[in-house]
Amino acid sequence: MSNDTQSVSESRLALLAAAREVFKKENPPKIFTPGETYIPVTAKVVDEADLSLLIDASLDMWLTAGRYARQFESEFGKYFGRSTKSLLVNSGSSANLVAISSLGSPELAKIEGLQPLLPGDEIITVAAGFPTTVNPILQNGWVPVFVDIDETTLNALPEKIMAAKTPRTRAVVLAHSLGNPYRADIIADWCKKEGLFLIEDCCDALGATIKNKPVGSFGEYSTSSFYPAHHITMGEGGAVMSKDGRFKKIAESIRDWGRDCWCEPGVDNTCKKRFGWTLGDLPPGYDHKYVYSHIGYNLKVTDMQAALGVSQLAKVDHFVSVRRANWQYLFDGIQSSAILKENFKPILATAETNPSWFGFPMYAHPRLNREKIVATLEQRKVGTRLFFAGNLTKQPAYKNTNYRIHGDLSTTNKVMNSLFWIGVHPALDKQKMNYMLEQLEHVTKHCTT
Ligand SMILES: Cc1ncc(COP(=O)(O)O)c(C=O)c1O
Repeated sequence: MSNDTQSVSESRLALLAAAREVFKKENPPKIFTPGETYIPVTAKVVDEADLSLLIDASLDMWLTAGRYARQFESEFGKYFGRSTKSLLVNSGSSANLVAISSLGSPELAKIEGLQPLLPGDEIITVAAGFPTTVNPILQNGWVPVFVDIDETTLNALPEKIMAAKTPRTRAVVLAHSLGNPYRADIIADWCKKEGLFLIEDCCDALGATIKNKPVGSFGEYSTSSFYPAHHITMGEGGAVMSKDGRFKKIAESIRDWGRDCWCEPGVDNTCKKRFGWTLGDLPPGYDHKYVYSHIGYNLKVTDMQAALGVSQLAKVDHFVSVRRANWQYLFDGIQSSAILKENFKPILATAETNPSWFGFPMYAHPRLNREKIVATLEQRKVGTRLFFAGNLTKQPAYKNTNYRIHGDLSTTNKVMNSLFWIGVHPALDKQKMNYMLEQLEHVTKHCTT
């Protein structure tokens, strides 16, 4: 190491140490005053180590995806299994866009037994959930086929999915609802037998397992979100996972402008024949950097986001276990109180799974008015959420879109009308959760229909 490098790196270490001190000084433990301090339904949990890596990445001034992005992609892939590859994108919605759009890639036809989806093909999914699980289906000209969900778990049951299959069905795209897994193991086996693709949206379920295998390891693609509400955060960020390098290559191209070239940012000639390709109707030797095999986007992240992800990923097991413990604490609190038990029916874990709860979802008794409940809880400083869009087919944006409903959506409507959720994030403690339970009791008396 030259003297110059040494002094740069020493000043960098000193700066990072100072930044950690600033963080600690400016973020002392917060005092909780019941009824005055707002308890958010989701919260990022960041510390001085996160800030230190974020600044370290910014000092590199690389700015686009770089060394931290490579590190995160490698470590995050391994989280889903040894052979899983992960690709960073700038949000969970972008991850769904990339994964779902990949099902239309002409490159799939080069893989034995596979064909890309064609306009008008059907994808089985649900209307109860977050819009960007479904939007890329419509954006690609495919038809979402909505099945109803199970009242107890908030997920579609395998038999409902199987019954919705038609000759046009090509794929199943489902999110693990609020961290509670659906039986992706059973659905993946069925999809394989029927020649269908499975995409698991794991944006709300990082760390959940089915028979001890991580969600996200069953489908051809799976996706994650690192928005601050989620299990780990990059501010904005997401990832697409796949076990098959050929699927990863398609997703990477769609993420990176649709290009055929797979060089890292700032790198040339990874393929060693940059001017040696003849593709499409282009002149022989046309620069591979500017050859496009997909109609793509640019959905990459910056290295600052990735650095934050590296730091957060080191804490994921802790975050997941605290979320589970908090869910259990609220569940026990409700079960041990006659009045709460009578008025609130929590969503339960799917059989043979271990959820990684995103929140604590529950139905309000029909004698209670759900809108009054959430307004009152918010007013009394307890954050609440609904199950996202409720029933997508009732949303204004979907009025004239081309979808099909298989059977009816009666449970989806019940969820839209009477379910809400409160937080389980790692910034909660028993004092806050006791206050949340007290406020649930309050609304049973003041929020009747
Ligand atoms: C199930 C699900 N999928 C996708 C997303 C989108 O993630 P992002 O906000 O990172 O775009 C969300 C957002 O919370 C979600 O809940």
